[in-house]
Amino acid sequence: MHFDLSEEHLMIQTAAREFAQNELKPGVIERDEHQKFPTEQVKKMGELGFLGMMVDPKYGGGGMDAISYVLAMEEISKVDASCSVIMSVNNSLVCWGLEQFGTEEQKQKYLVPLAKGEIIGAFCLSEPEAGSDATSQRTTGIDKGDHYLVNGTKNWITNGGSASVYLVMVQTNKEAGHKGINCLIIEKGTPGFTVGPKENKMGIRASDTHSLMFENVKVPKENRIGEEGFGFKFAMKVLSGGRIGIAAQALGIASGAYELALQYSKERKAFGKEISKHQAIQFKLADMATRIEAARLLIFRSAWLKDQHLPFDKESAMAKVFASETAMWVTTEAVQVHGGYGYVKEYHVERLMRDAKITQIYEGTSEVQRIVISRQVLS
Ligand code: CAA
Repeated sequence: MHFDLSEEHLMIQTAAREFAQNELKPGVIERDEHQKFPTEQVKKMGELGFLGMMVDPKYGGGGMDAISYVLAMEEISKVDASCSVIMSVNNSLVCWGLEQFGTEEQKQKYLVPLAKGEIIGAFCLSEPEAGSDATSQRTTGIDKGDHYLVNGTKNWITNGGSASVYLVMVQTNKEAGHKGINCLIIEKGTPGFTVGPKENKMGIRASDTHSLMFENVKVPKENRIGEEGFGFKFAMKVLSGGRIGIAAQALGIASGAYELALQYSKERKAFGKEISKHQAIQFKLADMATRIEAARLLIFRSAWLKDQHLPFDKESAMAKVFASETAMWVTTEAVQVHGGYGYVKEYHVERLMRDAKITQIYEGTSEVQRIVISRQVLS
């Protein structure tokens, strides 16, 4: 067992850090304030290879391992969690799902431009009445021979307005329950498919989250991923990997806030000395550093298991629940260390605190992660 990162890992980490500091930091406060989608920044992420990091180079990706992806996610999330959720959905849910389970035709048509970052994708499982209870899909896909006729609504879809390709879970056979769910690839612009207004969110405000409406949308049969009825298992498998990405996002949010608090504590003076010389602050910094390191180890382990093609469902759920709770705790403490300055936008930590909250909710709430973990430990 060794804990060292390879030369390649360190290069990727440095490249992501420089990109985040030089390209994402300027303007991050304004994009958050005005909910401005980071069009230019996403384009650059694509050019630098951050949108298809783990995809085989023969499909336009970077051919990197999950550890590299975690390192890049952490650095980008330290600065701009709106950009990192766009990156995470494209890499872990859309590209990975297509590469693992798509047909060669689907890969050529959709995966290649997605991995190159020429377009971005969205993963559409949640519905008004199917969030954590994901088997209760109400969106229907009626089998019409050579196509499915899709009707229904999807909620909370990241990249909802900006994506070109959507992986949409639909119920094609209600009697079969979760075995009657399929994942269909639906292109933007398909007649009957409309995008609802952008949600006005507490955090990750520059990313675009929308409802999607499907009214008699014709989707060719060749756009189904996997065998008939594979859609729910597809979603679960993809989300297991996605949770590593969101855990890394939470880690980045936490470590970004910690680094700001550490720096501030060495500059700010109170009661005649830097606040870092007061034990009340030292203990906070010690606890932040410890929890962040524990989260990092859980995440690296789940990414390593994924890279080894070993089971990682329980470990990615553990990484996600721990890292997201760490992010919420650390960012709250980082605001506290900053005092009044932490409560205003210029100091970044209030944004990181708002951004942290979503990591406990999307790609499975903390409660869902505990379901996944407890079922495995009890089985
Ligand atoms: N891999 C393969 N198969 C799996 C699986 C996995 N990881 N997890 C479950 N399955 C299979 C089960 O084996 C079962 O199949 P069989 O009947 O053949 O045995 C089937 O799927 C149903 O599983 P469960 O009985 O466990 O299903 P459940 O109804 O009890 O739900 C759950 C389990 C864990 C709560 C699940 O519904 C879940 O993960 N919910 C949360 C959904 C979620 O994460 N939503 C996030 C939306 S996407 C998003 O947020 C992206 C974004 O935009 C940022």
